Amino acid sequence: MPNVDFRFHDTVVAVTGAAIGIGRAAARAFAAAGAAAYFLDIDEVAGSEAAGGSGVFVKCDVTAPDSISLAMSRIETNHGRLDVLVNNAGGFAAQRNTEDVPLEEWKRILDLNLTSVFLMSKAAVPLLRKSTGGRIVNMGSLAGQLTSYRTAPPYASAKAGVHSLTRVMASELATEGITVNAIAPSAVLTERIVELRDEQERAETARSIPLGRYQTPEELAAWVLFLASAEAGFVTGQTFGVNGGRYMG
Ligand SMILES: NC(=O)c1ccc[n+]([C@@H]2O[C@H](COP(=O)([O-])OP(=O)(O)OC[C@H]3O[C@@H](n4cnc5c(N)ncnc54)[C@H](O)[C@@H]3O)[C@@H](O)[C@H]2O)c1
Repeated sequence: MPNVDFRFHDTVVAVTGAAIGIGRAAARAFAAAGAAAYFLDIDEVAGSEAAGGSGVFVKCDVTAPDSISLAMSRIETNHGRLDVLVNNAGGFAAQRNTEDVPLEEWKRILDLNLTSVFLMSKAAVPLLRKSTGGRIVNMGSLAGQLTSYRTAPPYASAKAGVHSLTRVMASELATEGITVNAIAPSAVLTERIVELRDEQERAETARSIPLGRYQTPEELAAWVLFLASAEAGFVTGQTFGVNGGRYMG
């Protein structure tokens, strides 16, 4: 758990992509800080295991409006409001040049990484309005900030879109006291990364990071909690590069 003493008692939080990785670390940290934490994910088995006894797992496909609507209805029935939405679900695609990306792959990656943020936020805003200080925290990426960084074209485009949507929604919702911010991580050592990259590749990546290592999911979760906290109430429309110095913008 992050060593940050934020309190989220009487706070209703929904984290998408909470079955594993960063989302699980964040949702667990919220639960440990006293929140009613909803673990939203398509993976029922890992999602239920992640929530354990401290949170509530709700099966939710962030690319499907009906599924999102069911998840939001459940939260509304239980609490009448939502205080924090963390749009974390997202994913990586094969690294290939733009001319080699099939249209189907392009659409799938945009749906998962960008349209999902639109759909989830659209469904959540009416519930966030019922909070005394609603928060949206979006998971962007260094891939959406850098062009010199080798990544997948639809993924980089979707994440740049997330950073942009963060600013637009922040402007729209500021007068209602709802803040919208994004985090742009670069290399977080989740189980997916361990599966995807062998030790040598991971060592190469670590060398390319000025601070010389991967970040842990728990360290990144601390940023999510900070942006969701009352203490971050004067911050909105920002994308925070939590990247070990890989991009100093
Ligand atoms: N890990 C990194 O180094 C890194 C770097 C930059 C950005 N990010 C971003 O952080 C976020 C989390 O990354 P991670 O590495 O923890 O991911 P991960 O692959 O470990 O976990 C993603 C989770 O999202 C869930 N998911 C996938 N499709 C879904 C859908 N349609 N509906 C609901 N849930 C769905 C998966 O089941 C899984 O639990 C992503 O948005 C990713 O792009 C990660």
